[in-house]
Amino acid sequence: MLRNLRVVVPVLVVVGCLGWLASWVVETTAWRWMVNDAVSRSQVALGGARDGLLASWRRGDRDALGRQLAALTHESPIAWALLCTADLERVAQTRDYPTEFGCASVGARSRLAVPGAPRGRWSWRPWSGLEQLEGERVQVTAEPVKEDGRTFGVAVLVQRMGYAERRVARLEDFIAIFFGLIGLFGAIGALQGYRFFWRDWTDELRRMLGGKASRPEFHPLLQDVQELVSQLADESQDGGGPVCTPERLRQTLRRHLRGEKILVVANREPYIHDRAPNGEIVVRHPASGLVTALEPVMRACSGVWIAHGSGTADRETADRRGRLSAPPGESAYTLRRIWLSKEEEQGFYFGFANEGLWPLCHLAHARPIFRKADWEHYRKVNQRFADAVCEEAEGPDPIVLVQDYHFALAPRMIRERLPGATILSFWHIPWPHAEQIAICPWYAELLEGLLGSSILGFHIQLHCNNFLEAADRYLEARVDRERMGVVLGGRATLVRPYPISIEWPPRWLADSPPVNECRRSVFQELGLREGMLLGVGVDRLDYTKGIEERFLAVERLLEREARFRGRFVFAQLGAPSRSTIPRYQQMNDEIDQVASRINRRFGGPGYKPIQLLRQHHEPPTVFRYYRAADLCSVSSLHDGMNLVAKEFVAARDDCRGVLVLSPFTGAARELTEALLANPYDVDRSSAALAAALDMPVAEQEARMKAMRRFLGEFNVYRWAERMLVDAARNRLAGRLSERLREAARAS
Ligand code: G6P
Repeated sequence: MLRNLRVVVPVLVVVGCLGWLASWVVETTAWRWMVNDAVSRSQVALGGARDGLLASWRRGDRDALGRQLAALTHESPIAWALLCTADLERVAQTRDYPTEFGCASVGARSRLAVPGAPRGRWSWRPWSGLEQLEGERVQVTAEPVKEDGRTFGVAVLVQRMGYAERRVARLEDFIAIFFGLIGLFGAIGALQGYRFFWRDWTDELRRMLGGKASRPEFHPLLQDVQELVSQLADESQDGGGPVCTPERLRQTLRRHLRGEKILVVANREPYIHDRAPNGEIVVRHPASGLVTALEPVMRACSGVWIAHGSGTADRETADRRGRLSAPPGESAYTLRRIWLSKEEEQGFYFGFANEGLWPLCHLAHARPIFRKADWEHYRKVNQRFADAVCEEAEGPDPIVLVQDYHFALAPRMIRERLPGATILSFWHIPWPHAEQIAICPWYAELLEGLLGSSILGFHIQLHCNNFLEAADRYLEARVDRERMGVVLGGRATLVRPYPISIEWPPRWLADSPPVNECRRSVFQELGLREGMLLGVGVDRLDYTKGIEERFLAVERLLEREARFRGRFVFAQLGAPSRSTIPRYQQMNDEIDQVASRINRRFGGPGYKPIQLLRQHHEPPTVFRYYRAADLCSVSSLHDGMNLVAKEFVAARDDCRGVLVLSPFTGAARELTEALLANPYDVDRSSAALAAALDMPVAEQEARMKAMRRFLGEFNVYRWAERMLVDAARNRLAGRLSERLREAARAS
């Protein structure tokens, strides 16, 4: 008994101390974040309502002020609001406003006003504090309301923080349970370890599984079980390090899939060879989120990337079969180019994929166009890529990664020719609601095509749910919502969310100049003076990216805040894209007009608030702009993930700069420390830009650090690893059930 206690007590003491420490750290950090969020929320809300309030104030219309305050607290975490004059007299307030936080009391607490001091000597500064109200914590934020240097008064916003208390309490419970369990299992483990050396146990298990005494007909089955056991052991090692690196991905491939090479099917090639006007051949890195994510994975895994050869010098730089080593000058993997005729490219790429599926899947109010002839080309081109996969496959069961909306039919076509293939399909754009997908005249073929995959991945759970719903409604399929799978014609497809990410650290960062040099060179290129403020946007010129909305937010900012006029410049790096499609041409004209109007309105000699740099920019330039900027705006109207948001964070190893992000991106679910702004709400978007430009350095650093930590951990190697490990499990489970069927038939 005494010997047992000697083993158990130290374990419990250590775990107890760690638990206490973890609980303290988590509580302090969680509170800090929630308070910061509450303050930003108040500032953004007030920023949005400011103009209306000022207008009513100037008219002396107290009723209107009361209504505007009520609107501010309607369906909002802000519970009460109050307006005081510059002399701290009450002007208007919402119903049941707590008397504890009246004008005089807030003035005194915040030292906005010192009682008895002449008015001119009061200091008008924003203030916020955490207070108690009837046993609950509340966050009180007082913001001076100023215009052109004149202080109208003070707005006081009070938010209930009960939810924060509940969350922190839940976190504490969780930590207590977690450490309680660790203590329990730690104590049991220590006791067991003390008694038996664990290796004796695993040796025994191995002897049992591989024992000569077992019946020969079960040997193949036992072999698979052994494989499964060793995979489970390996997977527990996978969780060992938080950061997934190319090397770890390679090891995972070796361990789980015996290092098999990977075949990728993706329309956009990672390297485009073009003939420049001076006759030289140049290599271009296309502006594509898909390429940004997948290329590092291919460099780590090796294999073949099958893509449309779209460059003007692509044929000259490939062999007779359209193959070449990639990246240029290295040979990490093979790029296999497929040549499309002008008609095929028009029907498959511009027509069905980009005038049909692209607007169908994005909620950006563009009408999808479906033409029978485009569909025929789409089908034929999918078949050509599927045939290329079969040519490149070295055995009957290759691992194939089918990418994006260009290839909804290819998975099934590959499956028909290679039934043993492991096919992972990933849809890089949103998957719409079931009602919407049925707009496409060939929706059933699209669903059936994708269900040729072993695993079908989307960025977020919502898109998986939409897909399952469509399969349930429109196909004779069995949908298992618990396991997230669809069985069609006896074949199962798992449907899973795999939020895509970027290489970490990005390779372009290694060669990037230091931040101050980037800033100097970009300021010089844009003709900016020292002390000016720079916002950047980096996009393909696409109507889903909300570029016009972004410019309107800049216009509103300059309209409302005179202090930014002549001082703030927004540089939009816009890569021309799909320019033969009328909707894209229309969008290009629109953003030209809006940018010129804003520049005419607020620009002047040596000052152009919107600089639209319409051309393809290579990644080193893009990174230089990210690093030079005070803020980056990503205002997509709808986006599967949006890797620009993640790249901006990755580029800022100085932990400065603010990300203003649309909530309609997949990235907004992960980069929670960004400032979220609805691009359709011009007032709030402009308030978010102002909040970003005013954000104290310490807060910028704290937000950037949190997002960088997240991206370091959830990088693209982890994205690929999760899919490949799931594929390996799926493959093994398939083989196991096949063997079991064989064994059952034999007996
Ligand atoms: C999106 C798509 C990608 C595509 C990229 C660029 O990110 O999901 O598949 O490559 O846009 O578009 P593009 O038409 O130039 O390939």
